[in-house]
Amino acid sequence: MGPLGGQRTTRSGEAWGHHLLEVRNLTRDYALPRESLLAPPAVLQALKGVSLQVTAGRSMGIVGESGSGKSTLARLVMALERPTSGQVLLEGRDLHALAPAELRRARRDFQMVFQDPYGSLDPRRPVWRTVAEPAAALEHASRALQRERAAAMLTAVGLRLDALDKYPHEFSGGQRQRIAIARALITQPRLIVADEAVSALDVSVQAQVLNLMADLRDAHGVTFLFISHDLAVVSHLCQDVAVMQGGRIVEHGPVRQVLGAPSHPYTRTLLAAVPEMVVPA
Ligand SMILES: Nc1ncnc2c1ncn2[C@@H]1O[C@H](COP(=O)(O)OP(=O)(O)O)[C@@H](O)[C@H]1O
Ligand SMILES: [Mg+2]
Repeated sequence: MGPLGGQRTTRSGEAWGHHLLEVRNLTRDYALPRESLLAPPAVLQALKGVSLQVTAGRSMGIVGESGSGKSTLARLVMALERPTSGQVLLEGRDLHALAPAELRRARRDFQMVFQDPYGSLDPRRPVWRTVAEPAAALEHASRALQRERAAAMLTAVGLRLDALDKYPHEFSGGQRQRIAIARALITQPRLIVADEAVSALDVSVQAQVLNLMADLRDAHGVTFLFISHDLAVVSHLCQDVAVMQGGRIVEHGPVRQVLGAPSHPYTRTLLAAVPEMVVPA
């Protein structure tokens, strides 16, 4: 029995309850253009000390109005950009302290899905190459093997295999988002960061893509950091939620608790914007 012996484990074998992702006191300043040559340099504090923990198997929603720092947080968690201060630990590894080669290897474990699948899919590449690319970048698999894996991922996201040789423009928005999810899944990540991943889709298509994500969460043990300005959408997929305002987390906890009995006035304001929302029991 290992150090985690006796605890419940997920299907992929790791213990429930450990921190898949831990964000410690993260700040990010952006330099703003000076008002005049003599003016002191102005700084915009997009993140003002954000800390959060995501437990394996418990997806977390990040909600907050536009400009509250959600996408900045996503970029730092994905190590697409460096923090001004603070740490991002993925399974205990401090991502921003890793050497480039180590970071490249670590990228297998976390993938991102963006709002605009069209912008994130290369229009000149057939779908199979786009889907296979994150894994192909990590290892030298044969073309045939890459294609085979891409086919398996397309099936997992509910697309037909004739999608393999098509191009992004041949698909609807919802289908393109499925392709982006297949691409994210190909490295068998532990964490998927989804930044407004369904916001651009029609409501009925949103529900389909959310259901797909919930299936992947349950079948593959993927944990989501799911960013949205829409509380109703978050409540479909996530067990926990953090509410951001002005670069800070102002409230966090289980979805039922935060959305059912919000303690922060800002959360109440956000909730009031979705009067028809049903909080899961
Ligand atoms: N690269 C950047 N340069 C300057 N300011 C930025 C940059 N990225 C984000 N910001 C600013 O940081 C704040 C937070 O932005 P963002 O993280 O995109 O918020 P959200 O995703 O919640 O809408 C905003 O005021 C935005 O204008
Ligand atoms: Mg954003």
